[in-house]
Amino acid sequence: MTDDRTTSPDNDAPGRTPHTAVVGLQWGDEGKGKIVDLLTGRHDVIVRYNGGANAGHTVVVGDQRYALHLIPAGILYPDKLCVIGNGVVVDPAMLIEEMEALRARGIEIASNLCISDRAHVVMPYHKEHDAALEAVLASHVSHDGDLSIGTTKRGIGPAYADKVHRSTAIRMGDLADEDRLRRKLRVICSIRSAELAALGVQAPPLDPDALAHQYAAYGLRLLSHITDTTYLLHDCLREERSILFEGANACLLDIDHGTYPYVTSSNCSALGIPAGTGVPGRNIEQVLGIMKAYTTRVGEGPFPTEQDNAIGERIRKRGHEYGTTTNRPRRCGWLDLVAVRYSSMICGVTGLACMLLDVMSGFDELKLCTHYRLGDGTLSERFIPDAHRLSQIEAVYETLPGWSQEIDDATDRAALPENAQRYLQRIEQVVGVPIEIVSVGPERTQTVVEV
Ligand code: GDP
Ligand code: IMO
Ligand code: MG
Repeated sequence: MTDDRTTSPDNDAPGRTPHTAVVGLQWGDEGKGKIVDLLTGRHDVIVRYNGGANAGHTVVVGDQRYALHLIPAGILYPDKLCVIGNGVVVDPAMLIEEMEALRARGIEIASNLCISDRAHVVMPYHKEHDAALEAVLASHVSHDGDLSIGTTKRGIGPAYADKVHRSTAIRMGDLADEDRLRRKLRVICSIRSAELAALGVQAPPLDPDALAHQYAAYGLRLLSHITDTTYLLHDCLREERSILFEGANACLLDIDHGTYPYVTSSNCSALGIPAGTGVPGRNIEQVLGIMKAYTTRVGEGPFPTEQDNAIGERIRKRGHEYGTTTNRPRRCGWLDLVAVRYSSMICGVTGLACMLLDVMSGFDELKLCTHYRLGDGTLSERFIPDAHRLSQIEAVYETLPGWSQEIDDATDRAALPENAQRYLQRIEQVVGVPIEIVSVGPERTQTVVEV
């Protein structure tokens, strides 16, 4: 096994590395895991601030492939502190499973993993509710199609809904007191059993005592990791330890700024960082926006540049575009720069990482969407963060010449085929942000770093 987990090309940089956010600028799966792993060497602390096990972040190191769902991708480095912030919704059963799977592969998980006592717990009834509601919505077809979102069924929406409901929510810190948990679950389970039955779930009523026992046991196993991560992160800031924020999901799935209602249930743009960690926005010094050289989407919702044809199929095949979490085939299409420019604006992006450029080798021509044509025929440079209105527009493209060479061993941007360089330059021009990293393969080494 080739394993250079502990080596980092950038460990010797002088001074503190700026606190940096890594955020997805499209509909997820842009390659955030690869970039977090790549940058971890320069940082001291890696923090998840949103989402839950709906995320699937892949890191490839030599012949080893890691798929991380709840644990920050920095965990592969034993000397880094990994934090699951208060904005994350944690499924303790899945977290323990993920920890054990990593330990079985030789990854150390001890005091290097901290979990916020205020992170909300995803309970089994959240997952049942998620699946049951999707099934009900899928069976109600309107003229817009059905209303299901195509969720990951990881209970994300119902868990965040309970957070907003307040009295029916359970936080990681609540798992320590089984008696209190049992009393709370007795009320919650009576409500949830009725709701699940109303959604058509045919199952015995939830058993609050058994659930309290099971989840208190999870709490006990996780006890040494559960802490006040807000004070912990502020201690890190004071000690000049460099923080890397690992966004899950992506800007166009943001509950406020994405293609609502076909979004996830958290603020997964960079705007979610302060609320999801307790670290003020002014402490985030750099924001690296992660984008694919094309566009993909999993689940339902509008996708103006989708290629439901041989072009999309070619991208899916070359990019192995199947979900890390659900294994669903991803929808594929041309790069939508209207969307990327919008996400860069929302996230305050200071630099771009253009991922999976290798997938675009071999096309005679490539298309870049630079404008939308609205219903009245006018051209607009503005994204439309509303699913219904976005589904009415037509993507307007520029056509660029493609390149035939494979580029997966490129190490230098200047050595890329001329048309690949042109493609990157045009992205920079339209988005107005420099590309700092070009990725040409899943491995750490298949990366062209410009800064
Ligand atoms: P994330 O959710 O943003 O971390 O992305 P995923 O891990 O879900 O999906 C990205 C996929 O692309 C993973 O399988 C990565 O190993 C792979 N990947 C990342 N960068 C590149 C690249 O530059 N080229 C190719 N061919 N694959 C890449
Ligand atoms: P990473 O971090 C891709 C999508 C789901 C669905 C919608 C709502 O790997 O990029 P949810 O289960 O969150 O209620 O589903 O959001 N979605 C993602 N798509 N990558 C992700 O995460 C996603 N997280 C959520 O497919 O359309
Ligand atoms: Mg993913």
